[in-house]
Amino acid sequence: MHDKVSRIVKQIPPSGIRRFFDIASQNSSVISLGVGEPDFSTPPSINKAGIEALELGMTHYTSNRGLPELVEEIASYLFRRFALEYRHDEILVTNGSSEGIDLALRMLIDPGDEVLVVEPSYVPYGPIVRLCGGVPVPVPTSLEHEFKLTVEDLERVITPHTKALIFCYPNNPTGAIMDREDWEPIARFIEERDLIVISDEIYAELTYEKEHVSIASFASIKDRVILVSGLSKAFAMTGWRVGYVAASELLLSEMLKIHQYTALCAPTISQIAAVEALRNGGGPCQEMVRRYDERRRLAVSAFAEMGLSCTVPAGAFYVFPRVTDLGMDGQAFAEALLAEEEVAVVPGCAFGETGKGHIRCSYATSVKELREAFRRMARFVERKRQALHPLQPMR
Ligand SMILES: Cc1ncc(COP(=O)(O)O)c(C=O)c1O
Repeated sequence: MHDKVSRIVKQIPPSGIRRFFDIASQNSSVISLGVGEPDFSTPPSINKAGIEALELGMTHYTSNRGLPELVEEIASYLFRRFALEYRHDEILVTNGSSEGIDLALRMLIDPGDEVLVVEPSYVPYGPIVRLCGGVPVPVPTSLEHEFKLTVEDLERVITPHTKALIFCYPNNPTGAIMDREDWEPIARFIEERDLIVISDEIYAELTYEKEHVSIASFASIKDRVILVSGLSKAFAMTGWRVGYVAASELLLSEMLKIHQYTALCAPTISQIAAVEALRNGGGPCQEMVRRYDERRRLAVSAFAEMGLSCTVPAGAFYVFPRVTDLGMDGQAFAEALLAEEEVAVVPGCAFGETGKGHIRCSYATSVKELREAFRRMARFVERKRQALHPLQPMR
């Protein structure tokens, strides 16, 4: 039967993250820093809105674009939080931002088109580009530049076949963010080279030192930007499956066509809960950000004490230390750490070749678990360092 499976699908590897989740979930003494989702529950008022909707029998399809109240609420949220102006016909409610990424890539790609994927990157971008018959082209960024994207990075890989560019800032897995000054040359480059941008801004609310700046805020290229986002991370709503796309009507109407045929609409109950989240969820969201920030500081100081090179993440809820000083890559580190100390982290190679020497640790877990995980990890690192340089004094 396997010969019936499409060649493209067969060639796509399973996600490198899942394997570690599966091992971690089978053993209760394993502490997992692998999961990329909030450990908080959805705030009560949002749950209540969903329950009420269910009790009122709001269990039918909504319009393909989404509930008009939600579309309205997304428009005013984007304006209020990020000074982005979108009309209602420039917004589409999706099944998580995942569907938005899929729609954007499907809408853009013809066979053979190249899409620049900024690395280290969220795992699905490359495989979805391939599923569409396109060619994902990695754009490496580096620890030395704090994993920010530069024009030089793009110059190195762009070709006449390049159609689009996809990235997420705040970044998964590095926690990097881009400031207005960082975006300026990129915006000029996008215009000059006639590119479309898919900007995944799912972590826009989770920044710790500065407010998020969207590349869509550059008027000169706004109609080239497909902004993809959702409620999963900001409002601890991963299982509700609500996201959205904002883009020029021209591009959005083409995505809406695909959505009409493949998804019909996002879950109705979740859309009603999403209205409540965007309208009144600011307080709970800020409180979660405050608590992530505490954990972020804990993680950064733990890695500094371990002596592993690590940028200070300014967004999302991940740290991405380099482990090559211990004479191993991220894969070897993650496997040995799991076997010897029962701590699960994700090898950086899951996020592309650029991440090979790193591991990703999520700090979306309790302070108690984090402390214990870092205690075990420090013991592990010390052992590996001793094995590598037996004559060095213990740290
Ligand atoms: C960068 C990035 N984009 C998108 C998603 C998917 O989010 P959603 O739950 O909105 O589909 C994730 C989830 O981890 C993510 O890290």
